[in-house]
Amino acid sequence: MYTDYIEDIEAMQVLDSRGNPTVQVKVTLESGVEGLAMVPSGASTGSFEAVELRDEDMQNFNGLGVNKAVENVNKKIAKNLIGENVFNQKYIDDELVKLDGTPNKSKLGANSILGASLAIARAAANSLDIPLYKYLGGINAYKMPLPMMNILNGGKHANNNLNIQEFMIVPVGGKTFREMLQMCTEVYKVLKEVLRKKGLVTSVGDEGGFAPDLENDEEAIELILEAVKKAGFKENKDFKLALDIASTEMNDSAKKISKEGYYFWKTDIYKTKAEMIDYLVDLASKYPIMSIEDGLAEEDWKSWKELTKRIGSKIQLVGDDLFVTNPARLKEGIKEDIANSILIKPNQIGTLTETLETINLAKENGYKTIISHRSGETEDTFIADLAVAVNSGQIKAGAPCRTDRVCKYNRLLNIENEI
Ligand code: PGA
Ligand code: ZN
Repeated sequence: MYTDYIEDIEAMQVLDSRGNPTVQVKVTLESGVEGLAMVPSGASTGSFEAVELRDEDMQNFNGLGVNKAVENVNKKIAKNLIGENVFNQKYIDDELVKLDGTPNKSKLGANSILGASLAIARAAANSLDIPLYKYLGGINAYKMPLPMMNILNGGKHANNNLNIQEFMIVPVGGKTFREMLQMCTEVYKVLKEVLRKKGLVTSVGDEGGFAPDLENDEEAIELILEAVKKAGFKENKDFKLALDIASTEMNDSAKKISKEGYYFWKTDIYKTKAEMIDYLVDLASKYPIMSIEDGLAEEDWKSWKELTKRIGSKIQLVGDDLFVTNPARLKEGIKEDIANSILIKPNQIGTLTETLETINLAKENGYKTIISHRSGETEDTFIADLAVAVNSGQIKAGAPCRTDRVCKYNRLLNIENEI
């Protein structure tokens, strides 16, 4: 058996794209080879996600420091994993889960655990001197993902009046990744011109998409379709649209005013659960929308079931906060016929092995998988390799703007070139 033993694991605090502290882990092997990983962080997080351990020391990064998570890697995790064969990813991840011992990784923190898990995989690939996607997926890793590119930002990702968190373009008419990336970038540039000419703001939100104040959320869709056309493309044939409603946030806002259902806090609009379903069905029928993510909240299974019944055979319904990359929650969804796709974010569950387990479970049950970044990202491009490794078919990595987003696309260009 091939071996290269873990000699050292060292974490430190670095910054993410929002300037918040996050965990970096470096794994050094007996051979001298290293593997490095940085952990991303969400803003509209689901309450069933694995726990991101923060210091809560208000004197230090306003409570967001990750010194405790760093210390957990440097002391507890390192102590347990030094001497292990780096190629035993599943065994190592199982050990990490056991070492933590809680169902949601609240003891060590999913940020410390995932940092170690990903750095170990990368060190293993480096030890074999093969690209990460090839280490993870072998000769079966060859399918380039369709990018769902978030070019207008709202919700919690931008300080504007749009309620929907992400307005994405999907270049369904593109043949290669390089072509798809170029198509999206051209529309993004034209959208900037469209906004500028209307005297609208062209500054960007957390994922690099523009964040103007508009009349309403429908206007955002209309402006994007205008940009698609002006860039020389046809809606439906070249581009479809995808939305991430991130409606758990709206459900949380409704709870704050002692109501059920959904409160669009930015524009003071309240919708009952039934009205929310109708709203989504209506959007899907009016516009060339191929995918709606988190149209309903993480605990609103009943409405999810209804929405799936009504439009699940026609469009992709993606569970993000609903499933949180968690095999147990996905199993529940499969059993109940809820949604038909799952967003995959490794830091929602906390280890690479569990992430792969969730992906396998989705595929076995005909659920589509979309590998995803977080709104707080770093220059780490792990998800680009992962998307190809598991032939996920789709990736969400933000706008073609800001290096924390673009680095994923550039990595995919390089992978396509190699394949
Ligand atoms: P988050 O947003 O990283 O802030 O959770 C991304 C998403 O909801 O898909
Ligand atoms: Zn989402």
